[in-house]
Order: sequence, then C-alpha cells, then structure tokens
Amino acid sequence: APYADLIVEVHGKTALIRLNRPKALNALNDNMMDELGDALRSFDADPAIGCIVLTGSEKAFAAGADIAAMVDYTYADTYRDNYISRNWEHILKVRKPVIGAVAGFALGGGCELAMMCDFIVAADTAKFGQPEIKIGVPPGAGATQRLPRAIGKAKAMDMLLTARTIDAAEAERIGLVSRVVPAEKLIEEVLAIAAQIATMPTSVAMMVKDAVNRAFETPLTDGVAYERRLFQAAFGTPAQKEGMQAFLAKRPANFDGL
Ligand code: HXC
Repeated sequence: APYADLIVEVHGKTALIRLNRPKALNALNDNMMDELGDALRSFDADPAIGCIVLTGSEKAFAAGADIAAMVDYTYADTYRDNYISRNWEHILKVRKPVIGAVAGFALGGGCELAMMCDFIVAADTAKFGQPEIKIGVPPGAGATQRLPRAIGKAKAMDMLLTARTIDAAEAERIGLVSRVVPAEKLIEEVLAIAAQIATMPTSVAMMVKDAVNRAFETPLTDGVAYERRLFQAAFGTPAQKEGMQAFLAKRPANFDGL
C-alpha cells in the first residue's frame, strides 16, 4: 500500500480517503497528517476526481491528536515544528469539495479536522467533542474559531468548557453536520452525495467553495462583490454554455472535464 496510516480508494470520480490507525482510534500523528496532505494534494490535482471524501472507521473518525506523541513535547519543540500548522492545514488549500464522513468518535483534533471539511455527514453513531481542556490544553487546530462560527457561541462555549460530547442528533440540530444517516449506510450514502457533486462542473464547485469560504474572511459587501465577480466570470466558461444550453434543449448537461 502506498500509505501506512491511510487507505485510499477511487469510486468513479470520487476519492475516498480513510484514516487508518484502528488500534489508536485513528489518533492523528505526524505521519498520518503528512500522508493525508499528500493524498489530498494529489487528488486535488487529478482531473479525473470531482469530489473527495474523508472518513475514519466505524468506531472513530479520529479520537484526536496523538496524546502519546504529544505528552513530552516542549514549547521549543512545538514552536520549531510549527505544531500543528505544518502538516494539518493542507486540507484548507484543497479547491475541490471535501466531505467529512464521521462515524464514532470525532474528538479534539478529530472534530477540528472534520470541521475543516466543507461539510460533515454523520453516522447515527457519531460523537463530537473538544475534550482538550481535560488534558490540560486549549484546542489547537481551530475549534475555538470554527465551532462558534458553526454552532454559535453558547453551544461552542458549552462544548469547549465542559468537554462534553454531543451525539449525531444534537450535532445535526445545531448545524455542525448537514445530514445524519444510519451507520451501516454511511459510506454508501456519502459516496452517493459525492457522486452527485462530481457530476457538477468541477470548476463551478470550486467557485462555490471559494466564495462560501470567503464569507468567513470578509465583510458582507465585499463577499457579495466577490461572488458577483465569480458569477460574471462564469459566463466566460464552457460550463455556463453547456449548462444553460442543455436546460433549454431539455437534455441532461454533460459537464465532463469542465
Ligand atoms: C493517543 C489514543 C487517543 C489519542 C485513544 N487512544 N485516543 N491514543 N491519542 N487521542 C488509544 C488509547 O490509548 C487506547 O490505546 C486505544 O486508543 C483505545 O482507546 P480506549 O480509551 O481504550 O477506548 P475507549 O475506552 O472506547 O474510549 C474511547 C475514547 C478515549 C473516549 C475516545 O480513548 C479517549 O478519551 N481518548 C482521548 C480523547 C481526547 O482527549 N482527544 C483529544 C486529544 S487532544 P491502548 O494502547 O491502551 O489500547 C487534541 C488536541 C488537538 O486532539 C490540538 C491540535 C492538534
């Protein structure tokens, strides 16, 4: 296998990346994050891929950063290695859609990694939490920023300060995940969602993702202006011609390669 800590598969136009350190509940270590960055970069660059799914096992998406690997770190170590930015944030540079498919535990860095996906589909067994405070650190991979943006301040503070875990139903109710599906159907359902996304013009999916992410970095008027420019630019692309002509001709659009 090309990777020690991941399993990668291609299903049609979808790349499925599975975190695979089952004995440690997919605790995220340096090698796994290096490999994940490598896999994400290569699928993002592969013109045959239109959507990427990131998942774990039935028991755990990931139970957090690897505590055994962190326990003896000094400040000098973390500073020198730029922990965790060095190899955790490749996922934020991926331009194609990335769906997080979460079954079982998504804790600490596992929940943070799931939140770096474009959206999360949860199995009914999913459990989300930020228990870092219990092991003497605040979150370090974005939870204090992404969680309140996703679910609001009250829910985020509650989760971050009490370290309580929420189940899939609560995660869906408060907007952390987009859908909940039966655990035994998680991969099947997520691959169906990914296949649907992959029939869309990939260039436009990239524009949508870029514009939505921009919303979290800019004032409203600037974000809307950015969206409008992308919308206008779309009229210079074959995807717009194909999509609109197909609609008017009452035939299915073919966005292959677009
Ligand atoms: C290292 C871990 C781990 C972790 C589990 N394991 N989580 N190893 N780092 N984060 C290991 C256990 O040590 C154990 O190894 C094996 O996986 C199975 O776990 P158990 O605890 O025996 O399973 P269970 O009783 O079912 O409990 C599951 C659990 C618990 C509730 C998820 O493992 C747990 O609380 N894990 C830690 C969760 C956590 O604190 N995460 C945040 C980490 S900090 P052995 O060898 O004994 O079988 C973090 C910071 C992020 O993520 C900041 C930026 C990166």
